Amino acid sequence: MRRGFFQRIGTWLVLSMMVVAVVGPIATFTINSLIIRYQFERLPPELRQRLEERRLSRERRGDPAPNNFASALERSTLFAALGSTALGLTLAFLLSRRLARPYELVGAAARRIAQGELGARVPEDLPYVGGEAATLVHDFNRMAQTLEASEAERRRLMADIAHDLRTPLSILQARLDGFMDGVLPLNMDEVKRLSQQTTLLTRLVEDVRVLSLADAGRLTVDLDQVNLGALVEDMVSSFEDRAAAKRIELNFLGEVDLPPVYADADRVAQIISNLLDNAIRYTPGGGRIDCRAEWVEDSPGVCLSVSDTGIGIAPEALPHIFDRFYREHSARSQASGGSGLGLAIVKALTELHGGRVRARNLEEGGARFEVWLPPGQAPS
Ligand SMILES: Nc1ncnc2c1ncn2[C@@H]1O[C@H](COP(=O)(O)OP(=O)(O)OP(=O)(O)O)[C@@H](O)[C@H]1O
Ligand SMILES: [Mg+2]
Repeated sequence: MRRGFFQRIGTWLVLSMMVVAVVGPIATFTINSLIIRYQFERLPPELRQRLEERRLSRERRGDPAPNNFASALERSTLFAALGSTALGLTLAFLLSRRLARPYELVGAAARRIAQGELGARVPEDLPYVGGEAATLVHDFNRMAQTLEASEAERRRLMADIAHDLRTPLSILQARLDGFMDGVLPLNMDEVKRLSQQTTLLTRLVEDVRVLSLADAGRLTVDLDQVNLGALVEDMVSSFEDRAAAKRIELNFLGEVDLPPVYADADRVAQIISNLLDNAIRYTPGGGRIDCRAEWVEDSPGVCLSVSDTGIGIAPEALPHIFDRFYREHSARSQASGGSGLGLAIVKALTELHGGRVRARNLEEGGARFEVWLPPGQAPS
């Protein structure tokens, strides 16, 4: 929407400064005239009489009578007023254009952004722009940058979700076509393969749902007293078969009797499950995974950790592994079937409990993930 002449801040600034430039001298002139007249009235009578006599004698002589003292003063005040009005109008015009410029540019950039041009910015090196206007321009540009980045992130997420949904769907479709054309035998093995793909799809949709709820602040925790030591031990047992199938030694080295903390047992189980799933996935056969649950005194709470002797994480990937859909070396991870959502969910669920998560590489090789959970409070 283009702004009309009278809707621009610059126009109103020019007009208001012009009003000030005109009204000021008029007021000065009027007040000065009144004061001059008043002061003149208060002159000593003999002085006023002498001035009057001088005026009359000049009139009688036919001299071009210079105006009396009061009107001479009034006239010079009038000239001063006219001069300062002209100067005021010129300055008002020049200054207001300069003052309004950053606001007009911010307005124009905001309209371009509203029309979808997310790269619109306001130049930050505008001459003579400082103070609050410069801060406004800077903050506006930062806001626009955040908006552009989050829009790019949203598009990337949509593309990643679509991509990850398409893979199992096309496998399903191809197999179903095979059955219908009689190319594939419809037996239990094939049905199992189909079921694996639907499990993958269900997990992906559920992961996306959990992260969307977390984003919207609608992910809730059902807090109860939990012994995290026992919980982690249970989870480790449930992963024993998968580890054994890959000839990986899986150990629980934590304390079973930890002080109870208030946490959502299902959500903590999901955190441990995602970490164990990764550890098994990224540790080659013959490796070892150690799982611990310990009470820490310095920052009171429970620290859950999963260390492996696997491939480790490339240093440049470390800052990104908790990002959604991030997969180090996509090709390799895709081959092993990951979507890159597991650690994003670990982070969201940990933070939902007021905890922290971090990852690091071990000197002897492999990676270690630590989740710290505070003792929590009983739900009121
Ligand atoms: N224990 C680990 N050792 C080495 N790299 C790891 C480990 N855990 C995670 N990573 C790296 O971090 C990336 C992100 O992990 P994340 O769990 O989020 O995704 P994923 O395992 O690829 O897929 P998903 O968990 O969604 O099935 C992985 O692709 C992998 O490159
Ligand atoms: Mg994972």
